[in-house]
Amino acid sequence: DWTMAAYRAEAIEKIRAQVGDAKVICGLSGGVDSSVAAVLIHEAIGDQLTCVYVDHGLMRMNESEQVVGLFRDHYNIPLVHVDASDLFLGELAGVSDPEKKRKTIGKLFIDVFEEEAKKIGGADFLAQGTLYPDVIESVSATGGPSVTIKSHHNVGGLPERMNMKLVEPLRDLFKDEVRALGRELGLPEAFVGRHPFPGPGLAIRIPGEITREKADTLRKADAIYIEEIRNAGLYDEIWQAFSVLLPVNTVGVMGDERTYEAVLALRAVTSTDGMTADYYPFDHAFLGRVATRIINEVKGVNRVVYDVTSKPPGTIEWE
Ligand code: XMP
Repeated sequence: DWTMAAYRAEAIEKIRAQVGDAKVICGLSGGVDSSVAAVLIHEAIGDQLTCVYVDHGLMRMNESEQVVGLFRDHYNIPLVHVDASDLFLGELAGVSDPEKKRKTIGKLFIDVFEEEAKKIGGADFLAQGTLYPDVIESVSATGGPSVTIKSHHNVGGLPERMNMKLVEPLRDLFKDEVRALGRELGLPEAFVGRHPFPGPGLAIRIPGEITREKADTLRKADAIYIEEIRNAGLYDEIWQAFSVLLPVNTVGVMGDERTYEAVLALRAVTSTDGMTADYYPFDHAFLGRVATRIINEVKGVNRVVYDVTSKPPGTIEWE
C-alpha cells in the first residue's frame, strides 16, 4: 500500500527530527497501537529506544507472553518486562470511582516509566500509541467535546507533572490506518488484527473495587468467551469483545446446591473507529454455549448476561 509506505517514511523523518539523539522510552500495553508505535520508532532511532511492558496485573490471559514474544523473538527489539502488579493492585485497592481508577493507573504508569528511564541514564521522551479518536474523546482543549467522557490513559489520564516529553507518531491516525501501517511494518497478522485493549486494562471492566481474585476470575471467563468467538469464526467481524465482572451476586443452583456468586456481562460491538458502535447480534445458541461454559468452568460466576447497548448512548467500555 503506497499510502502507508509514504506515511511510514514521513513518520520516521518526523520522529528523527523531534528526538535527535535523545533516548526514548515506549510504553507497551499489549494493544496494537503501542506495538505499531514501538516498531515504527525503533525503525527510526534503533537502540535509542527502550520498550517497557508494564504488567499491572490487569492484562488479559497470556498477554504478557505474547507481547514479550513478539518484541524479543520476532523483532529482536529489546524489551524491559516490569511486573508491577503488586504496586498497581495495591494503589487501586478500595478505589471504585472510574475516573479515580484511570488517574491512579496513569500516574503509576509514569512512575514506572520514569523509574526505568533512570536505569538507562535518563530519557527525554516517552512514546505512546495515542490515536486520533483518543485525542478527540479525551481532552476538550484539543477541540473535542467540552465534557470529558473518560480520561483515556494515553492522553487525559497522564499526570500534569511529567519530566518526559511525548512522542506520539500515530496521533492523526484511525485504527484501520494503524493496522495498515502495522502490516506495512511487517507485524504478524494475528497481532495486527487483535481487538483493541485499553491501557487501564481489566481495571475498567471490574466496576467497583478491584481485587486480584476478581481480575483472575474475569481473565478466565474472558478467555473462554474469546475462544468461543474465534471458534465460531466471528473474531474478525467484531471490533471488540470482552467480559465485565459485575459487583453483584445473584442466587443460583448448581446440582442441588444453592450458589450466590457474581454476574458476568458479555460485550461485543462492531465499529470502524470506536467513536460509535453497535452491539453485535450473536445468535442465541452461541450466547447460551458461552454462558454454559463460563458458569461450569469459572468458579465465582453463576450468571451471564449480554449487553445490548450501542454507542451512543453507551460507551464501549463500562467505565
Ligand atoms: P469507549 O469506552 O470510550 O472506548 O467507548 C472507545 C475505545 O477506546 C478504548 N479505550 C481506551 N484505550 N486507553 C486506551 O488506550 C484508555 O484509557 C481507553 N479507554 C477506552 C476502548 O477499549 C474502545 O476501543
